[in-house]
Order: sequence, then C-alpha cells, then structure tokens
Amino acid sequence: MAMAMAMAARPILRFLPLGASIALLLALSAALLPSSDAYDPLDPGGNITIKWDVIQWTEDGYTAVVSLYNYQQYRHIQPPGWKLGWVWQKKEIIWKMLGGQATEQGDCSKFKTEPPHCCERKPEIVDLLPGTPYSLQIANCCKGGLLNSWAQDSANAMASFQVTVGQAGTSSKTVKAPMNFTLRAPGPGYTCGPAKVVRPTKFISPDGRRSTQALKTWNATCTYSQFVGQRSPTCCVSLSSFYNDTIVNCPTCSCGCRDNNSKPGSCVESNSPYLASVVNGPDTNSLTPLVECTSHMCPIRVHWHVKVNYKDYWRVKITVTNFNYRMNYTQWNLVTQHPNFENLTRIFSFNYKPLNPYGTINDTGMLWGIKYYNDLLVTAGPDGNVQSELLFRKDPAAFTFQKGWAFPRRVYFNGDNCVMPPPDAYPWLPNASPQLLSASLTLITVWIAIAFLLVHAY
Ligand SMILES: *[C@@H]1O[C@H](CO)[C@@H](O)[C@H](O)[C@H]1NC(C)=O
Ligand SMILES: *[C@@H]1O[C@H](CO)[C@@H](O)[C@H](O)[C@H]1NC(C)=O
Ligand SMILES: *[C@@H]1O[C@H](CO)[C@@H](O)[C@H](O)[C@H]1NC(C)=O
Ligand SMILES: *[C@@H]1O[C@H](CO)[C@@H](O)[C@H](O)[C@H]1NC(C)=O
Ligand SMILES: *[C@@H]1O[C@H](CO)[C@@H](O)[C@H](O)[C@H]1NC(C)=O
Ligand SMILES: *[C@@H]1O[C@H](CO)[C@@H](O)[C@H](O)[C@H]1NC(C)=O
Ligand SMILES: *[C@@H]1O[C@H](CO)[C@@H](O)[C@H](O)[C@H]1NC(C)=O
Ligand SMILES: *[C@@H]1O[C@H](CO)[C@@H](O)[C@H](O)[C@H]1NC(C)=O
Repeated sequence: MAMAMAMAARPILRFLPLGASIALLLALSAALLPSSDAYDPLDPGGNITIKWDVIQWTEDGYTAVVSLYNYQQYRHIQPPGWKLGWVWQKKEIIWKMLGGQATEQGDCSKFKTEPPHCCERKPEIVDLLPGTPYSLQIANCCKGGLLNSWAQDSANAMASFQVTVGQAGTSSKTVKAPMNFTLRAPGPGYTCGPAKVVRPTKFISPDGRRSTQALKTWNATCTYSQFVGQRSPTCCVSLSSFYNDTIVNCPTCSCGCRDNNSKPGSCVESNSPYLASVVNGPDTNSLTPLVECTSHMCPIRVHWHVKVNYKDYWRVKITVTNFNYRMNYTQWNLVTQHPNFENLTRIFSFNYKPLNPYGTINDTGMLWGIKYYNDLLVTAGPDGNVQSELLFRKDPAAFTFQKGWAFPRRVYFNGDNCVMPPPDAYPWLPNASPQLLSASLTLITVWIAIAFLLVHAY
C-alpha cells in the first residue's frame, strides 16, 4: 500500500517546489499510519474533550456538570447537533437533568417514587433547544447541539449539561466513571477514549477572589476520522484560469456515481418538475444528502479560478457551490493549502485565519463566512453559492503559472477532505503545453527539410 501511495504521489511531486514536496511527503507518511487512526495532518491536535465534574454528593449518588470542548480548528457540529452516549458501570440512573435530556427514558418501572429522568444502561444525551425555559438551563447549554470550531468561534465551541445521578457511589472512592463514551455529530466519525481521573477543575468566582473545585473530575477525548465517518467524500474541487479556456471539472464520480437504473431518485435534475415534491418529500429530515444530478455527485463543489495576474500580485476567486437540496450549511468553513498563503495580502468578503499546525510551514489558511452576510450557504439553486477573492503578493523567486503552481494543494470543506482533479489535468500555460512544443518542433523540422531541399535544388 505504501508503494501504491508513493507511486500515486510521484506525479504530484513533479509539480511542486522542494519545500512543498517535503511537506507533502510528511503529510503522506502521516496518512500512511494505521488508517483508522484519527489523524488530520492539518489539525494534528484536534479533538473534542469531554469533562465530567462531580460538584456535589447526594443521598444516593452525585450531581455532575458535563462539558464538551471542541478543540478542533475547523470541524464543527451543525444541526441537528451532537449526541453523547456512555455505558454506566454499575446500576446508575439519572434522576434529573438541566441543559440537556436523555433521548430515551427506558424502563423505570421499579421506581415507586416520581420516576427518574432516565433508567437506560446506555443513555444518550442531546442538547436542549434555544428558548428553553430558564428553570431548565445551565450556563453554555441549549444551543440545539451546535458546537462551533475553535478557530472560527472559540466562544461557542463549548457545551454543558448537568446530571443528577442516582444508585451511584457517594464518595471519591466508590463512584465509578461512565464507560465507552460515544459522540455522534450526529452521524459516526468520532472515536472516544476512556475517561481518566484528572486534577479537579477549579471554578473561579466572578470577582476572581475565590476559587472552588470539583469533588472529582474525569476527562475523555474524542477524535474524528473521515475514514470512520463516511465511506465517500462530500466535496470536490474544480479549477480554471485566465490563461487557459479549459475548465477542469471535478473528477467524475468524486462522491458517488450517477446510477439511474438501480436507484432512481439518488439525485434530482435541477429543472425537474418534481423537484419541489422530492425536496419536501417524506425523507425531508433524512441526513443523507439529496443532490442535484452532476457527474461528480458531490453535495459541495469548491471552484478555484486564477483570475488576474498583476505585476506584484495575483488574484484568485473562490466559489463554493451547494448541490444539496436538503442542507443549509450554517457556519461553513473552508481550509486550503497553497504555498503563497504566507503572503496573502487581502481577502474580500470571507473571514480568514492562518493555520500553522507545524509552526514552520505557513501555507494553510481557514476561510469562513461573514456573520449575517454569507455565513449561511443555502440549499442548491440559484442562491446556493458563496464567493470571495484572494489577493496574494508574488515572491519573484517562487511565483509561476507553470505546472499548476497557482492551484491549491489541498482543500477541506467543513473539515472533510475534497477530491482534487489529477495534477496532469490542471490547466496549462499555453507555452508549457507539450503538444504545442512538439508541434513547433515538427514545424522546425519541416522548415529545415524545406531549406535542405531548396539548397540542394540549386
Ligand atoms: C486535545 O486538545 C487540547 C487542545 O488543543 C490539547 O491540549 C490536548 O492535549 C488534546 N488531547 C489529546 C488527547 O490529544
Ligand atoms: C465497552 O468497550 C469495550 C471495548 O472498547 C468492549 O469490550 C465492551 O463490550 C464495551 N461495553 C459495553 C457495555 O458496550
Ligand atoms: C480536562 O479537560 C479540560 C477541558 O478541556 C481541560 O481544561 C483540562 O486541562 C483537562 N485536564 C487534563 C489533566 O488534561
Ligand atoms: C442516466 O441517464 C442519462 C440521461 O438521462 C444517460 O445519459 C446516462 O447514460 C444514464 N446512466 C446510466 C448509468 O444509465
Ligand atoms: C434553508 O434556508 C431557507 C431560507 O432561510 C429556507 O427557506 C429553507 O427551508 C431552508 N432549507 C432547509 C433544508 O433547511
Ligand atoms: C503566517 O502568516 C500570518 C499572516 O498570514 C502571520 O500573521 C504569521 O505571523 C505567519 N507565521 C509564520 C510562522 O510565518
Ligand atoms: C513571501 O514574501 C516574502 C517577502 O517578499 C518572501 O521572502 C517569501 O519567499 C514569500 N513566500 C512565498 C511562498 O511566496
Ligand atoms: C489548457 O489546459 C489543458 C489541460 O487541462 C490542455 O489540454 C490545453 O491544451 C490547454 N490549452 C492551451 C491553449 O494551452
């Protein structure tokens, strides 16, 4: 497999300067680590940490505040939101909850008192919706399960709920941590490690003059892997430039193949008279995308157009198009890697933050929409796109339009790696074309032959 990867990498490497090639090789070798391992070379430390703070012992258990911290730079959780599950070690039950709720109450028939909130051995918790009565809220709750990413909005990258647990231990020695955490967002993709006892959390009073601490704290870490998350990609990249008329489309079947025989309705034609009825049909709440019929079948396409070449600068236009009729992407984001991001001079109508995962190579940036302007990427159709332009300062030593240098090395949409066209399909500079070169060679040969004939004719 390593061989296959190395072979596949070779044509790409030909196009890149040495530094970028080394970075790419590093990234590739990272990708070759056990592949189900959650590892993202552009966000190597990214994780969601679950913190379980026991804040009070009760007669038959304890009360805890459970918090989720999204430490991922660009992967967020969008509607319908996160679902956190675990397995109790003993016969614990949940008497009461604030700021969240168990999806199933389970069998509480043993209880002669007012029945508990949840008697499941494997409870699954969801967030409450915005607008929940104050008496059921706690701080950082009730966002409908949304969890923003750290780089995009760290103030909203955290969620909390409170549980009152019964039939549990009532002291540090007898209490048992929940096992086998599962985090769904809401689909699969996250793998959580075991809960570990950590230093108790300190809570600082609002005036900063006193701190209290949790009676016991556990942490567990969940990491994401696209490999675990879904078999097929969710976005693709197309390319064009001012110096070549060719538009290099997304590779055919990037996200799936159009198959109208076996699965009618796997996609919809944009001009179909049934569009409205399909979109609002019985599966409206389904998480599977309903995409417009295209050769790539991706819900999202990112188009990178090399637009203008100035003396000291060059300009790129990025367009993100939504082909999914079932999804408005709120708080969408894009991560792109190109060596010239080091010298990004201006960005129009998107937010930008450089990502610098290794501290030395400054070639990756994160882009996202401006609040109330284009932070919502609406469903497929005439308004289903967002656009921006980037202005880069040229470094005369590195800058070239040759060999696809002006195109991105890697693109992510909402944290998922997008399928790129093969490097040998990138638009060429007219004078870099081998056909043109061989054509002119042929021409020269012909002229020499004619000259030769003419000379010998006299
Ligand atoms: C999770 O992310 C935080 C913040 O980046 C980091 O401090 C911590 O070490 C990470 N945990 C793991 C297990 O990677
Ligand atoms: C918890 O996870 C372990 C391995 O990770 C597994 O062996 C065990 O069966 C799980 N327990 C439950 C109750 O799901
Ligand atoms: C446990 O998680 C919290 C929240 O992310 C963090 O502040 C704390 O440092 C973690 N503790 C340890 C020992 O990793
Ligand atoms: C699907 O339908 C289109 C036109 O309706 C046709 O061109 C294409 O060949 C069909 N594909 C298959 C796999 O039958
Ligand atoms: C997307 O947003 C538009 C406008 O806010 C709304 O009309 C439409 O119903 C939404 N679609 C979905 C699938 O949520
Ligand atoms: C990376 O670029 C950003 C500006 O785009 C700059 O603020 C930052 O200092 C740079 N970091 C390094 C290590 O060059
Ligand atoms: C960015 O600009 C600086 C100063 O002009 C230059 O030294 C550096 O090589 C440039 N980097 C790239 C990747 O263009
Ligand atoms: C434009 O690029 C394509 C490769 O994508 C190439 O086949 C074509 O010959 C180029 N056109 C010109 C005028 O160089």
